[in-house]
Amino acid sequence: MSVELTTRETCAVLMLNRPEALNALSVAVLRQIDEALETVAKSRARALIITGAGNKAFCAGADIKEFRHQAMLDSKARTELGQATFAKLDRLPIASIAVINGYAFGGGLELALASTFRLALPNAKLGQPEIKLGTIPGYGGTQRLPRLIGEARALELILTGRTVEAAEAERIGLVNRIVEGDAVEVGLAFAREFTGYSLPVLALARAAVQRALDLPIHEGLKVEADLSTLSFQTRDADEGAAAFTQKRKARFVDA
Ligand code: CAA
Repeated sequence: MSVELTTRETCAVLMLNRPEALNALSVAVLRQIDEALETVAKSRARALIITGAGNKAFCAGADIKEFRHQAMLDSKARTELGQATFAKLDRLPIASIAVINGYAFGGGLELALASTFRLALPNAKLGQPEIKLGTIPGYGGTQRLPRLIGEARALELILTGRTVEAAEAERIGLVNRIVEGDAVEVGLAFAREFTGYSLPVLALARAAVQRALDLPIHEGLKVEADLSTLSFQTRDADEGAAAFTQKRKARFVDA
């Protein structure tokens, strides 16, 4: 299998495992990711970590050798599959963390962009090089990149196809942080910063923030008021306030 799904601590770990092709996304790999995300959605995992096998690449993008001879409608179907697969990350009830351990190019960067968080190892190299292949991003890059780093920076990366190193990626907000060590271990350490909180309340927080970029602010504030009110109806909200007043650590029950 070119995609391995395992469990570590309370997290699911999705490993792209095609190092001989720098974990490039063939249609078969996209289908395996899609299937793995369905499994994660039904699991008890509290976060999903995504990374690439080998020490060279997170993912070098769509499989160029495969799409090279694709007819137009096959190309459209492949692009729609890539988009639909990555959109599942948005809809997962839990947060996802892409740990970028080397190249994240084209569809590889788009997979990271669709994740909730991005961590870069010092050897990370990120880019949308499609322009050099005479094409443009197709798995969400033209939409998610400007939302993350702004229109001008996104256009610069997409029109020049240039590579961004880890330090610049952190500076422009393309990644949350630079981390050092084993990819899965650093992903787990990051996940531990939030997986102890109430799962339904974490999901409400993500849902509210996800709407922020879709809605005019007055509509977004209404969504926030509704979801915040909902969070106060949980047992975990009672427990959080009780633990505060009793000066002890909260014991959340995900309800
Ligand atoms: N598709 C298919 N195979 C790929 C690949 C890709 N995207 N990237 C690397 N490979 C293969 C190489 O062909 C090579 O295989 P062979 O040994 O059989 O020739 C193997 O992986 C190792 O790669 P390199 O020898 O090229 O390794 P390198 O260290 O010299 O270079 C690299 C690394 C700079 C990442 C280079 O491989 C590269 O530029 N890859 C292509 C990156 C790219 O353009 N990605 C965008 C694809 S288009 C896209 O993703 C569109 C979209 O929006 C979905």
